This record gives sequence, C-alpha cells and structure tokens, in this order.
Amino acid sequence: MKRILVTGGTGFIGSHTCNALLKNGHEVYILDSLSNSSKKSLDHLKLIFSKKKIDISNKLFFFKGDLRDKEFIDSVFEKVKIKGNSIDGVIHFAGLKAVEESVNYPLKYWENNVIGSFNLFKSMIENNCKTIVFSSSATVYGNTKDELLKESADINPINTYGSTKFTVENLLRNIYEAKSHEWNIAILRYFNPIGAHDSGLIGENPLEKPNNIFPLIINAAYEQKNLKVFGNNWPTDDGTCIRDYIHIMDLADGHLKALNHLMTNNSQLINLNIGTGQGHSVLNLINTFEIVNNVKVPFIFSDRRKGDVCKLVADNLRAKKILNWYPNRSIEEMCRDGWRWKLMNPKGYS
Ligand code: NAD
Ligand code: WQD
Repeated sequence: MKRILVTGGTGFIGSHTCNALLKNGHEVYILDSLSNSSKKSLDHLKLIFSKKKIDISNKLFFFKGDLRDKEFIDSVFEKVKIKGNSIDGVIHFAGLKAVEESVNYPLKYWENNVIGSFNLFKSMIENNCKTIVFSSSATVYGNTKDELLKESADINPINTYGSTKFTVENLLRNIYEAKSHEWNIAILRYFNPIGAHDSGLIGENPLEKPNNIFPLIINAAYEQKNLKVFGNNWPTDDGTCIRDYIHIMDLADGHLKALNHLMTNNSQLINLNIGTGQGHSVLNLINTFEIVNNVKVPFIFSDRRKGDVCKLVADNLRAKKILNWYPNRSIEEMCRDGWRWKLMNPKGYS
C-alpha cells in the first residue's frame, strides 16, 4: 500500500485513476480546486466500491484548493504528516486543457499549468517526495507527418496549452538532472482518452461546453442535434481526421503501471506515449457509436478546424515494453461505456 497524492483527482482522468489506485489497495489524497469537476464524483467513486461491499472511507481523502496557492499544497503534506504518515508519490493531473481557450487566455494557462506545477514540485522537494507521474499530452508533438509517433519525434507545440505542457516536462527534466539519483519521474503523453467506467457511475463531466469530439458525439446523440465534423477532404480513406482513441480505463491502468514501475525501479525519468497505436477516423468513431448503441448521431460537415492535424497515432511500444502495459479495450467498448455513463447521468454529476 502506498499513499498517493492525486492533483486533479476529481476530474475525468483523475477520477478513473483514483478508482484504479483504490482497487489496488492504495490510499488516495485528492487535491482539486473543482474548477472543472464536481465533488460528487467522490460519492460516485465510493458507490462503485460499496456495491462490491468494500469500504474505502478511510482510504480516500479530499482537499479542496488550488495549486497556484503553495501554502495550500504545503498544508496538505502537513496534514498527512500530522497523522504520522507521508506521501509516497504524486500523480499530477490538475491543469487546464482547452486548446482554443489557451490561445485566447495565455496568462491563465501559464499561471495554472506552469506556476501550479512549479509550486507542487517545490512543495514535493520540501517534503522529500520525489516520485511523480505527470499528465502530458500528444499535443506537445505539434504537426507531424509520422505514421506512428515515437517519443523521439520532434517536439513542436503549436498552441499555448501544448507549450505549457512541454514547459512542465522541461522543468521536471531539469529537476531530475540536478538530482538524478533521487527522483523517479514518468511523463505520460496521452493521445485521445474517451469512454467511462463500465459501471456508468463515473465519466467525463466537463463544466463548460466540451470541445473534444467524444462528449460532443454523446450530446449530439442525446439531444439529436447536429455535430459538426471538421472537414471531409483530408487525405484519409473517408476524408475525416484520424486519432488514437484510448479507453479511459486503459489510461487509468497505465498510471497504475507507471507508478508501480517508478516505485520498484532505480531512479529514472521516462517519457511514454499512452495510446493504443490504432487510428480511427471521425466517421469511423461516429459509425461505431451508432451501431453499438443503436442510436443516430446526426452530423453535418463543416470547414476544417484551424490547427487540426490529419493524423495522430501513437507508437506505444515503449510503454508496453517498460510498463508491461497493454491497452485492451476496443473502440466499441469506449462507445458503449461512454453512452452508458450519459444515460445513467444525463446531467453529469449535477
Ligand atoms: P479535467 O478538467 O477533467 O481534470 C482536471 C482537474 O484539475 C479538474 O478536476 C480541475 O478542477 C482540476 N484543476 C485544474 N486547475 C487546477 C488548479 N490550479 N489547482 C487544483 N486543481 C485544478 O481534465 P482531464 O481530461 O481529466 O485531464 C487531466 C490532465 O490530463 C490535464 O492535465 C490535461 O491537460 C491532461 N490531458 C488530458 C487529455 C484529454 O483529452 N482529456 C489529453 C492529454 C492530456
Ligand atoms: C478529435 C477529432 C477534430 C470536434 C485535443 C487536444 C489534445 C488532447 C486531446 C489534451 C479531430 C474532430 C472535433 C468537433 C470534429 N487534449 N472534431 N468536430 O484535436 O485530437 O486533441 O484533445 O491534451 O491536446 O488538442 O481532439 O477531440 O478535439 O478532436 O470533427 O466538434 O475530432 O477535427 O479530428 P484533438 P478532439
């Protein structure tokens, strides 16, 4: 059993990862401002376990506050210490992630994602906690012509959000280089996480209007209102863009494997792509969603979205080899589980 601090733990990826951590017997300390999530996700998380007659009340702790406030982060470490314990490792999800918003409000993104991370790392150093898994993004690669993206591909973020992610990667790299025998760091570059826990109890719950394709497909199906598909003249078989969609539960499992790897091996810093290695076009995703859920997804074609790339698919061999991690949930399961979450929680957690 380890004590893990999870920043952003009530968010989409965070809540599913907390579920995986708790399932594996770890103690979870969530730090979240609730700026894009709901505290009710914790009740839903508890329900998953109580349905299996497992009591997690003394394993799951929540601290509401913001990473931009270093004293608040210090106070969380302090509260754990007062109980005679210490945090063994951190999974750092907290951050803002809307690409377009990041371009319009750069200071907001640099403050949240970079200064927030800076405060966290400083507090970790002061509390002698030197194991961390960081949420980065395939977005750091920018435009690419590679069939499958390797971790060694050129890094060239084309938007503010991507720049903040790469800056935090660099900060971690510098921290590691200064004390390379002390730190254990995994930088995970996610591709396109979708779906939900198969209980339908936790899922994606954006507080603002979503920008990503999957919650928009769900809403189009639920409200029977047109989704806009951005471009039908891309150089792909059906003319729509290709992405590497990964089931949120496989992604959560990747975090658990990364943490276990860091805790059982010598000091290191690793960058890993977390994707399935399989590409699906937008039309392919829509068609699969319609078939497995027996529901129509109305859509119209519109112009290409500014800044979109044609194809982004992970070479995930390094993650498979190093972590012994294998994403095994299909695109059909992603669509089925995402729709179940919507039908069981039409208004999310509210
Ligand atoms: P999310 O918005 O659902 O979760 C992020 C959580 O962080 C939210 O609960 C929010 O309230 C919290 N938060 C934000 N700023 C904070 C701050 N300053 N202090 C404390 N809490 C704060 O997003 P998600 O999809 O779960 O993404 C988690 C992480 O993964 C993010 O860092 C995101 O950039 C990264 N990521 C996401 C995707 C994706 O497609 N979802 C892809 C690649 C990388
Ligand atoms: C997927 C496909 C769109 C909306 C973004 C971030 C990336 C990462 C994941 C955080 C594209 C098409 C979309 C719509 C559409 N997030 N689409 N109509 O662009 O691959 O990546 O989210 O790190 O950083 O950049 O994901 O879900 O926005 O788009 O046709 O209304 O769906 O053109 O081909 P993307 P997405």
